[in-house]
Amino acid sequence: MKTELNLHDRSLTLHRFPKRSNETLQAWDAGDEYLINHVEELALPDHQNIVVINDNFGALACWFSDKHNVTLMSDSFISHKGVKQNLEQNHCNKVAFLTTMDAIPANADMVLIQLPKSNRHLIWLLSQLRKALPASCPIIAVNKAKEIHTSTLKLFEKYLGETKTSLAWKKHRLVFSSANVEPAIEVDPMTIWGVEGEDIQLKNWPNVYSGESLDLGARFMLQHIPQDPALKHIVDLGCGNGVLSVKAGQLNPQARLTCVDESFMAVESAKQNLIENLDEGRDFQCIANNCLDGFKPDSSYLIMCNPPFHQQQAITDHIAWQMFCDAKRILNKGGKLLVIGNRHLGYDAKLKRLFGDSNVKLVASNNKFVILQATKDPAKLGAN
Ligand SMILES: C[S@@+](CC[C@H](N)C(=O)[O-])C[C@H]1O[C@@H](n2cnc3c(N)ncnc32)[C@H](O)[C@@H]1O
Repeated sequence: MKTELNLHDRSLTLHRFPKRSNETLQAWDAGDEYLINHVEELALPDHQNIVVINDNFGALACWFSDKHNVTLMSDSFISHKGVKQNLEQNHCNKVAFLTTMDAIPANADMVLIQLPKSNRHLIWLLSQLRKALPASCPIIAVNKAKEIHTSTLKLFEKYLGETKTSLAWKKHRLVFSSANVEPAIEVDPMTIWGVEGEDIQLKNWPNVYSGESLDLGARFMLQHIPQDPALKHIVDLGCGNGVLSVKAGQLNPQARLTCVDESFMAVESAKQNLIENLDEGRDFQCIANNCLDGFKPDSSYLIMCNPPFHQQQAITDHIAWQMFCDAKRILNKGGKLLVIGNRHLGYDAKLKRLFGDSNVKLVASNNKFVILQATKDPAKLGAN
């Protein structure tokens, strides 16, 4: 797997975050190279204010920080960490970090975007760019050509302004646009809906997983969250909008709650939803983090997890594995990890490998999902 990006007689060493010894996925793609090549050809004067949105692991931020003032905007905590790691490794100049809930810097001279996966997130970004920028500021986006549909370009024209595309290069295409549509359309970042059969109302920022309706797995999990006065601390790992924590909090008023997600928008949504759905004064925290990095061992009685199966654009089960390993470390002896997954994902084998065959049991199943419970063996005191 390549870690050296060589272009225009310059070389950058780039790794994904977290760095893994057996990594098979590269930290940049041909879209990053296409954007770099295009902007290099423009021969911009130095010290331009370049806003880079959704840089995966920092190829663009590292490249352009050499001569320009770069502001990176991303909803991903993992991207922020990956970009920081690569800036440091390549001794790059300082870059400013923002999330995509922050205002677009109005002094931008150019905006470069790796297109987000979700259309809601794209619409939000386009509407924010339209509001913040003059028509003269070039906005250049990139994605795999097969992901740029006529409907994607229509969103650009509706929410941002005039738009055209480049020829394809290494299966990627550039989208050139200007912030000049009239009138500018105001976009409400939140979707708000109630959970059927529950006393739960959810607000969802645009990049939250399943932000328009309840995930089917989460719906099934809601019926199997335990109620137990002994549960003092419950962790919702990969919390999304926090729906599982809200239910766990309603069932267990004595429990302290911790919601963790790598999406800043998810963390903000979960925070809002816990405030609005639970009684005042509840003890909870919502944290942007990579799985349970930095959490104290032996500090939780129950961890609930509906794991993701992709990171950025890549489909992978390594995050689920990291979540299960972290959960085992963080649980008290006798503490429980409750996992929901599609039947075909084989989480039972992973959990048995980690927790031991006799400590993993099936809690419930239907035609699509299984809910598994893994108990940290109270007999193995001191073992993590
Ligand atoms: C399948 S969704 C579950 C969301 C919510 N718990 C539910 O049940 O609807 C998985 C969540 O894991 C988050 N996630 C992905 N990678 C992560 C990581 N490395 N650390 C923490 N959260 C992560 C995603 O942002 C997403 O919100």
